[in-house]
Amino acid sequence: MQAAPLPENEEDRLRALHDCELLDTCAERGFDEIVRMATLVFGVPIALVSLVDEQRQWFKSSVGLDGCESGRDQAFCSHAILRPDEVTVVTDARRDPRFRDNPFVTAPPHIRFYAGAPLVDPNGHALGTLCLISPEPGDLDAGQRESLALLARQVVDQIAYRNAARRSAAYQRELEDHKTNLEIKVRLRTRELHRSRQEVIQALARAAEFRDDDTGHHVRRVSLYVREICLELGYDADGADRVALASKLHDVGKIGVPDSILLKPGKLTQEQFEVMKKHSDHGCTIVAHLDEDEEGVLQGHCGLGPAILGNPEYPLLQIAARIALSHHERWDGTGYPKQLAGDDIPIEGRITAVADVFDALTSARPYKPAFTFERACEILIEGRGSHFDPAALDAFFARIDAVQNIYREYRDALALTAEDAA
Ligand code: C2E
Ligand code: SIN
Ligand code: SIN
Ligand code: SIN
Ligand code: FE
Repeated sequence: MQAAPLPENEEDRLRALHDCELLDTCAERGFDEIVRMATLVFGVPIALVSLVDEQRQWFKSSVGLDGCESGRDQAFCSHAILRPDEVTVVTDARRDPRFRDNPFVTAPPHIRFYAGAPLVDPNGHALGTLCLISPEPGDLDAGQRESLALLARQVVDQIAYRNAARRSAAYQRELEDHKTNLEIKVRLRTRELHRSRQEVIQALARAAEFRDDDTGHHVRRVSLYVREICLELGYDADGADRVALASKLHDVGKIGVPDSILLKPGKLTQEQFEVMKKHSDHGCTIVAHLDEDEEGVLQGHCGLGPAILGNPEYPLLQIAARIALSHHERWDGTGYPKQLAGDDIPIEGRITAVADVFDALTSARPYKPAFTFERACEILIEGRGSHFDPAALDAFFARIDAVQNIYREYRDALALTAEDAA
């Protein structure tokens, strides 16, 4: 028996074969039908799609044979792949010095006739064969050889389709992965943005408070009261959190009020109060541009900061701007700066007014001591429908237990009342 020499392009050929990822895969109809057809057309009991790797030939599809592989050294196909351009025909293996003592000739399946058409890929690599086997001697005429070669081309096409489908599936997976990665990145960036925005708002609120309240408790309490009112009015948790956060900036405009007024121990003169009242406008200007006119002012005077803060994609800052501007309006139209009345006052401003005045009343100020919780409640109720939106005020009192908990938890040392001292 003569083992076949290795093809000249063996290394490339094996690489091409392995690249197909075809070895040791499951049966596939496309290959099985061609093999079945070969047995019918040529009238032989055995036909194979045989792939020749380093050590063996492995059958992607077989009819009439048990087992799915055999040693490369005994394989007829190892000879057939040496001539990629022709169909190798062995008419009677007993008379062929290459095969006469081959174990498949001397023992079952007692091969006599063999015809193998190489499976040649587009780069000229013979990956294996489509072969016919019979225990009877036989031959193929020119037309039959061409037919077998054409069927072998069909097998090569099957391999090509399969490769294309595989590559496309891999590409699809890659796209999916890429998409998932992008989504994760966007989520992370959004969260980062959200966090940095909150930090900017906290920092601004703290800057505004620092001059007359270095604990930050006023801002925190007001925002917690605002949250309770919002929830009572039917905001969902996200919406309530958003308004609560925005309310922290309600007095940011006090940055623009001189210490001599802000920290004055006694009552303000009318003139001083006029300056103080400007804090609503200052606050709005600092936080956001509400309309085109103000946008021009902001960009002209304040550069990048307000342009970023005033980005209209951030409704949070629009809410903050509305609150800064409208938290001293009164329900009856006697507030400032615009003397808006009723529903013309933005709802967030009406809500913050209740929270802000309640906290001012229960806090010590340079100009006044703290009122008791009960006295503060009375003063609020007196303002129902004149100073305060009745709906916002009623929502506040509907949650008076939660309000009291916040009041106690974030109490300032200076807010001790005569009642507490007693
Ligand atoms: P603030 O001290 O935080 O007070 C906010 C709001 O709470 C006030 O807005 C007012 O509506 C209410 N409020 C505060 N204290 C009292 C009070 O004793 N009685 C009643 N009924 N309501 C009170 P308003 O009046 O527009 O004042 C805005 C800001 O102007 C105040 O914020 C405070 O910083 C300043 N301010 C107002 N009045 C005086 C004052 O007499 N002296 C000084 N130094 N500052 C004042
Ligand atoms: C076998 O029957 O496994 C051998 C067939 C061949 O060498 O092609
Ligand atoms: C304070 O921080 O105590 C006064 C600020 C305000 O009235 O909102
Ligand atoms: C905070 O909640 O972290 C501080 C609140 C503030 O003072 O702005
Ligand atoms: Fe204010």
